[in-house]
Amino acid sequence: MRNLYLYVIIILIALTSCSQSGKQYKIGVSQCSDDIWREKQNAELRMGAYLQGDVELHFAAAYDSDERQVQQIDSLVETGIDLLIVAPNQVATISPAIDRAFDKGIPVIVFERKTSSQKYTAFIGADNYEMGRVMGEYIASQLHGKGRVMEIMGLEGSSPAIERHNGFAEALKRFPNIEVVATLQGDWTEESAVKAVKAYQGDLSNIDFVFGQNDRMAMGARKTLSALNSELSTKFCGIDGLPGEDGGIRLVRDSILDASYIYPTHGDQIIELAVNILEGKPYEKETLLMSALVTRDNARVLLMQNEEMMRQSDYLDQLHHRADNYLDELDTQHLINWMSLGVIALLLIIMVLFYLYHLKKIAIQRERVVNTLWNMKPEDIPQAAAPEEPESHEEPTEDEPVTASLFITRFKEAVEKRLDESELSVEDLAADMNLSRVQLYRKVKSYTGSTPVELVRTARLNRGYQLLLTTDKSVSEVAYQVGFSAPSYFTKCFKEEYGLLPGDLRK
Ligand code: FRU
Repeated sequence: MRNLYLYVIIILIALTSCSQSGKQYKIGVSQCSDDIWREKQNAELRMGAYLQGDVELHFAAAYDSDERQVQQIDSLVETGIDLLIVAPNQVATISPAIDRAFDKGIPVIVFERKTSSQKYTAFIGADNYEMGRVMGEYIASQLHGKGRVMEIMGLEGSSPAIERHNGFAEALKRFPNIEVVATLQGDWTEESAVKAVKAYQGDLSNIDFVFGQNDRMAMGARKTLSALNSELSTKFCGIDGLPGEDGGIRLVRDSILDASYIYPTHGDQIIELAVNILEGKPYEKETLLMSALVTRDNARVLLMQNEEMMRQSDYLDQLHHRADNYLDELDTQHLINWMSLGVIALLLIIMVLFYLYHLKKIAIQRERVVNTLWNMKPEDIPQAAAPEEPESHEEPTEDEPVTASLFITRFKEAVEKRLDESELSVEDLAADMNLSRVQLYRKVKSYTGSTPVELVRTARLNRGYQLLLTTDKSVSEVAYQVGFSAPSYFTKCFKEEYGLLPGDLRK
C-alpha cells in the first residue's frame, strides 16, 4: 500500500516536472533595409541563433525609412525583447529610439552602421573609412596617379557613406592629378545610382573610374553609362564583395566590375556577441571585422573558396534537417511516453482508490459480523413482537423461554453445538429445544425476522469468517468444519453474505 502511494507521487512529480521549458532569449533585429547583403546577414543571424539553441529572433526591415525604423524599434521593445541588434539607417535620426530601448535596460548591439548616441552596449562592424581609403589608393594606382574619377555616395547621413567618402577623399589627396569630377548622391540602391548618373549635367564621356560606395550603385552607374556609350572604357568598382551569382566577387571575376571590397556580414558572430552580453560573459565593446579588397587576381580563388564553403554548409544543412527530423521523432516519442505514463498514473490512482474502497468494505463487513444479531449478547438483542399463536397443535411447553433474548440465546447455543453437521435440520434443532418444527420456525421468524435455516446458514458463515481470520485452515477445511458439504457452495454463500470471496479475506 505504502509502495503504491510512493509510485503515484513519483509519477506525479515526473509529470509536473516535464512541463518546465528551457530559457529563451528574445532578440530583436532591426535592419535598416532589405537587399542581398542583408539577406545573407539575416541567414547568418538565423544560423547563429540555431547554433546557440535558446535564442529566438524577431526581424524588422525598415526599407531605408528612418520613420519606419524608429517605429519598428519601439514596437520590438514593446514585445519584450531581451536585446536589440540594430543597423541604424542614418546616424542621428534613429538614435532617440535606440536611446529609449537602452534606457529601458535593454542591451543594444549597433552593427555595421553607427549612431550618434553613446547609449549602446557594443558595436560590431567593419572599418568603412579604411575601405574608402583603400579604394582611393587602388583607383589611383590603376590610373597611375592621373585621371578623372566619379564617386557615387550611399544614403546621405548614413555612417558608411560618410566614412567611405572621407577615406576615399583622404587617399586621393596624395594624388593631385586625379580629379574627382563629381560626387553624386545615391541611397545604396542601384536605381538611385541610375537616377543620379542620368541627372548629372557634366561631361560623362571621359570618366576613367567610377567608385560606387557599394556594388549595386557601381552597377547602376555602369548600366547607365554603357547605355549612353557602347565604346565605354570607364572602369567601375564598388564595395560589398558578396559571393554568389549576383555578388560583387563574380562581377569582378567576370570583369564587369574592376574591384570590390568585402563588406563582412558575420551574422553568426553578432549572435555570439549578443549571447555573451545576455549571459554576462566578457565581450568586446567595439569589434572591428576583417575585410579585404577583391580584384581580378583573387576573385576566382575567393569564389572557389566560397563554393567550397557553400558545399560544406549544404552538407551541414542536410545534417541539420536530419537532426531536426530525428528530434521531431524523438519529441513524438516523448509525447507518447508521457501519455502512456499519464495513463499508467491514472490506472495506479484508480487501483489505489479501488483498494481503499475494498479495505473500507472489509471493515464494514467486519463491523457487520460483530454487530450481527448472532454475535450479540442476549441483553442486546432487540425485543421482537411476541410470536403469533401457532396454528398447529404443538403448543409451547411451560418451561419454554419467554423473552426473545433468552430464546435466541438458546437457539444460538443449539445451533452452535451442531454447526459442523451438514445434515443438521430444523427438526433436529426443534427437538433439541423441545419444540415442534413449526413452533421453532414461528418463534425464530418472529423474534429475528429470519427463518431458522437462514440463521443456521448465517451462523455457519460467521464461524467460517472467524476461522478464516484466526486459523491457517484452508477454505475447504473451514467450509467442511462449519457444516457445508461443498466448499464451492460455502464460497458462493460467503460472497453473497460478505461481498467478498473467502480467499480475499485472507489477503
Ligand atoms: C546593404 C548596404 C550595403 C552597403 C551597406 C552600407 O544594406 O546597402 O550594400 O555596403 O548597406 O551600410
